[in-house]
Amino acid sequence: MPYDPKAIRRLDDRPTVGLANLPTPLIRLPRLGHVLGTERLWVKMDAETGFALGGNKVRKLEYILAPSELKEVTCLITSGGPQSNHCRVTAAFAARKGLRCVLVTNSGPDGEPSGNALLQRLFGAEVVIVEDRIERAPKMTTVADKLRVAGEEPLVIPIGASTPLGSLGYAQAAIELCDQLDRLDDGCSETLVFSASSSGGTLAGMILGLTLLDRTDVHLTGVSADATAQHLDTACRDLAEMAAITILETQIDPSVVPFKSVDDQVGEGYGIPTTASMEATELFGKYAGIVLDPTYTSKAAASLIAHLRSHPLKHHQRAVFLHTGGAPGLLV
Ligand SMILES: Cc1ncc(COP(=O)(O)O)c(C=O)c1O
Repeated sequence: MPYDPKAIRRLDDRPTVGLANLPTPLIRLPRLGHVLGTERLWVKMDAETGFALGGNKVRKLEYILAPSELKEVTCLITSGGPQSNHCRVTAAFAARKGLRCVLVTNSGPDGEPSGNALLQRLFGAEVVIVEDRIERAPKMTTVADKLRVAGEEPLVIPIGASTPLGSLGYAQAAIELCDQLDRLDDGCSETLVFSASSSGGTLAGMILGLTLLDRTDVHLTGVSADATAQHLDTACRDLAEMAAITILETQIDPSVVPFKSVDDQVGEGYGIPTTASMEATELFGKYAGIVLDPTYTSKAAASLIAHLRSHPLKHHQRAVFLHTGGAPGLLV
């Protein structure tokens, strides 16, 4: 797939809300790197996208909530777990714009809401609780139907904002990251990027952006928070391809960019810390002053740490931890 300037122009021309503080910084972590045996460890701080405590969802919602997408919309409906970062950012946007917001979450918080669950309520969202994750999507449809009858114009945002439109946020992030990498002048010709992955939009967008740039020197690893690696691999590549065709009017081969999903950090399941994720949280805190969350970023960081220990970086390689946010989840 050759470099595709026309598709990149279409991406640049897509309207956004202007919520995020971009570019997010790319920062070298010498103390943490020293502990892990490398001078070439970096973090791309998407925890600092800014709006409503930041994270990766801000980049995706930039496109999904663009004025051209909202028009007559009076109400946003979305779903997630009780500690969903995506629900937090959606609720904050609704508050800022004066829209109604309904969040469908599987199980509520035990006791008083804290972390993201607290923030969702603070932002004025109405929370509808269902028993199981699989009930979330049908419940959103039921809620939307009821609201329509009541005269509202709802916009249903699929879980994690991982739609073709939402994934454009990470196509732009890939372009932003490559621009930063190209200016490092550190003699490295290969970059290993580790990121948390769940509904797939973040990695799909990265694959899309890197493919449009024809960047095979950036190797992506998506670290699963829940699903199998095989499921995520397919979901991310399919979503990248769909975004290219349906929005950027181009064809891509999503297998050109080096990308793999791994699921060896899930442990006992979604949101349940592991020994390795707790160690990652400690190391990032102690040696870099960086907060990781228990569900996503600590597991992705654990994967990066395990990789650095078992496969020390070669002289031409650097490693980048794509920090996708989620700090409120640590404070529950
Ligand atoms: C902090 C954080 N990191 C990573 C992810 C995973 O991103 P995606 O759903 O785009 O795969 C999520 C959302 O699920 C998240 O909230």
